[in-house]
Amino acid sequence: MMLVGNQLLEEIKMSVNFEESYSKKVLVIGLGQIGYSNAKYMTSKGLWVDGHDISQKAVDRALDAGIIKSQAINFASYDYYVICISTHKPENMSMPYLDGLYEIAYQISKQGKSGALVGIDSTIPRGTTHKVEEILEHRLHVVHVPHRFYINEQRDHGVNQTRVCGASDECCMQKAKIFYGKLLGIPLFPVSTADVAELTKVVENSYRYVEIAFAEELKILCDKINIDFEELRSAINSKWNINILEAQKGIGGHCLPKDSQMLVDLYKNVLYSSVVEAAKKIDQQYRLHIEQFVPNHLAINLS
Ligand SMILES: NC(=O)c1ccc[n+]([C@@H]2O[C@H](COP(=O)([O-])OP(=O)(O)OC[C@H]3O[C@@H](n4cnc5c(N)ncnc54)[C@H](O)[C@@H]3O)[C@@H](O)[C@H]2O)c1
Ligand SMILES: [Zn+2]
Repeated sequence: MMLVGNQLLEEIKMSVNFEESYSKKVLVIGLGQIGYSNAKYMTSKGLWVDGHDISQKAVDRALDAGIIKSQAINFASYDYYVICISTHKPENMSMPYLDGLYEIAYQISKQGKSGALVGIDSTIPRGTTHKVEEILEHRLHVVHVPHRFYINEQRDHGVNQTRVCGASDECCMQKAKIFYGKLLGIPLFPVSTADVAELTKVVENSYRYVEIAFAEELKILCDKINIDFEELRSAINSKWNINILEAQKGIGGHCLPKDSQMLVDLYKNVLYSSVVEAAKKIDQQYRLHIEQFVPNHLAINLS
């Protein structure tokens, strides 16, 4: 059933009534870093928040901290579903994986309340929001509001920071503006399609990936031609529009490698070569380099 016309308009008008909105129920699905932080933030805003996770440990942590009211028994009767599950392969953090997300969508499609909003906060490749909407047959609204959470700077870069927001249909966007914008007080940057929102996050992280890989490339070069990388970096960064990043231990974690892979996957049959793909090769080279490289002065001492 498509939600259109007067029915939706009435519903949206009613949702703007804040007292009523605060009595609405949120289900946070996936209670890891961003799910936990979302639940904490929403509870602090006075909302009723329940949680669901395949890991009982994650659920217990959220219950013990008092940031969710209860563990969801099923997905029925919620007004807002916020999906925060991992989107990488369980056995390989660098590879995108969406089976878990689609299983959640099927479960919501069977049990979810008509007219409720499904917000996808997890990072997803292009086309995913649209597929979720198809699974739900648009009986519920769907929006993608990618997260920009940074665990080490939660005050400035936590749940409440400018977030891009994209949907396939205007009714979904209106619902998102009420929930994320008005109810949660998150500044939104609406874009015209879900595809743009999906790509925004993936490109942000690919950009970061390339910046780090460039630093790694320079570090390999410096080591091989006997130049002090840190001195070179400081010298270059003294120019007003340049910021060469640090070269550390390789590009890890469950965000940058997988998100940049989502972009590379999109290039297939579109581009002959890609800066992001080259950056991935550099990162592999760099990892080998830091394992094997012995600085000249140590090499001399050892011989
Ligand atoms: N952590 C960040 O800084 C950050 C920032 C922006 C975007 N993201 C994105 O947000 C998503 C989640 O990241 P995270 O850091 O919170 O990951 P996380 O590993 O900390 O947590 C993910 C949680 O999802 C649960 N989960 C996985 N599959 C599930 C399923 N099928 N059903 C229910 N629960 C499931 C896991 O048990 C885990 O508790 C990813 O797509 C990630 O790329 C993360
Ligand atoms: Zn809609």
